[in-house]
Amino acid sequence: MIKRAQGPVIAIDGPSGAGKSTIAKLLARRLKYAYIDTGAMYRAIGWKATREGIDLADEHALAELVSRTKVTFNGGSADPKVSVDGRDVSGEIRTPEMGMAASAVSRSKTVRARLLELQRELGADGGVVMDGRDIGTVVFPDAEVKFYLDATAEERGRRRYQELKEKGLDVELARITGEIAMRDLQDSRRDIAPLRKADDAILIDSSRLTVEEVLERMLGEIGSRRAGRV
Ligand code: DC
Repeated sequence: MIKRAQGPVIAIDGPSGAGKSTIAKLLARRLKYAYIDTGAMYRAIGWKATREGIDLADEHALAELVSRTKVTFNGGSADPKVSVDGRDVSGEIRTPEMGMAASAVSRSKTVRARLLELQRELGADGGVVMDGRDIGTVVFPDAEVKFYLDATAEERGRRRYQELKEKGLDVELARITGEIAMRDLQDSRRDIAPLRKADDAILIDSSRLTVEEVLERMLGEIGSRRAGRV
């Protein structure tokens, strides 16, 4: 276990497939901060709701499910883990189906309220890189450094396709691109905490940048912001 360094909350928001988790994980490692993947928490709820055959649009059923579900997230290690009622689901939630299920349950106000509480608890002491859709706007609106990581829809579809292929999943590019477009729409049009760039977030379009280039840009911004604070 890496000892967590003291420091600010660094928020990274953006649409699916923009590279948030890859970048956030590396950034956290470089800064010796904890990495907190909030999407994994929504996936965890989506996973359990799907297993139980719950209608993902049924607010009452989701509220009841949340009331008897314990989601835990351990971002202190190099390989963060998310558990549901003590069962490690970190691998099982990484499918396109669970991405769609997460997006569906993330519209629920009860689900969001419960996970918001957990996310604020995890970031309360700072020294974290947290990625999601509403970190800079809702979860930590006072985060010291906020990034909005974007890329073209084609590029995001291609990256996600590549990632799933490498994991040995049988996927089609057109279907992945279609699902990403649907999730974009659903995540940015929902009533509560929709995906949107915070006014004070630094926009980085990663379409033509390498992972290392994005990382260097972020480290530069973090360094200069922190140096500017008295
Ligand atoms: O980042 P991800 O693909 O693992 O996220 C899965 C879904 O969870 C995403 O489509 C919307 C939802 N989500 C959210 O509503 N708010 C967050 N902070 C993170 C994820």
